[in-house]
Amino acid sequence: MREKRRGIVITGFMGTGKSTVGVMLARRLRREFVDLDSVIEEVEGKSIRDIFEEKGELYFRDVESRCLNDVLSRPGMVVATGGGAVIREENRRRMREYGFVVCLTASPAVIEERVRETTVRPLLLGGDFRERVRALLEERKEFYRDSDLTIVTDGKMPVQVVDEILSHLEGLE
Ligand code: S3P
Repeated sequence: MREKRRGIVITGFMGTGKSTVGVMLARRLRREFVDLDSVIEEVEGKSIRDIFEEKGELYFRDVESRCLNDVLSRPGMVVATGGGAVIREENRRRMREYGFVVCLTASPAVIEERVRETTVRPLLLGGDFRERVRALLEERKEFYRDSDLTIVTDGKMPVQVVDEILSHLEGLE
C-alpha cells in the first residue's frame, strides 16, 4: 500500500479480533490507528454498554455513523469499527470510499467461545446467548461480505492475521 492516503477499515463480528489486529497492522504500516468504539465512548463520555442502556440502539447507531464520518475525514489511517457499523448502507459506502475494507470472520463456535464472558457487549446480554450470536451473524452476513478482503481468523494468532493482510496489500502494489 504505497498510496498513503488510502486508509484501511477493519470490519467483522464481535470477537473476531478487529481492534487487536488493527493496532498491530497500524504499527507495521506506520499508520495511525483509531478504534471507532473508543471514539464513541469518548464523545459520549460513557461506555458503549451505558449508551445502549440509557439511550437505546437507534441512538447508538446514529452516534456511530456520525463518529465514523468524523474519523474517516482524516485519510490514511487504520480504523477498527464495531461489529454493527456495517449495518447501515451509508456507513459501508463511506468505508469503501475511504480505502481498503478488510473483514475478519470466525465460525459461530469460535465467536461464542471468545465473547462468552462478555459484559461489555449489550447486544449479547440476556436471552439465549448462542441463539443471539447465530441470529446476528445470519442477519449481517451479506453486510460483512461487502469488503475487499475476508480473513478467517479461526485458530490463528493475531500476528498471522496481520501477516495475511500485509501480504495481500503487497500484492496490490
Ligand atoms: C456491536 C459491536 C461492538 C459495539 C457495540 C455493538 C455490534 O463492538 O460496537 O456493542 O452491533 O456488533 P465490537 O465488535 O468491537 O465488540
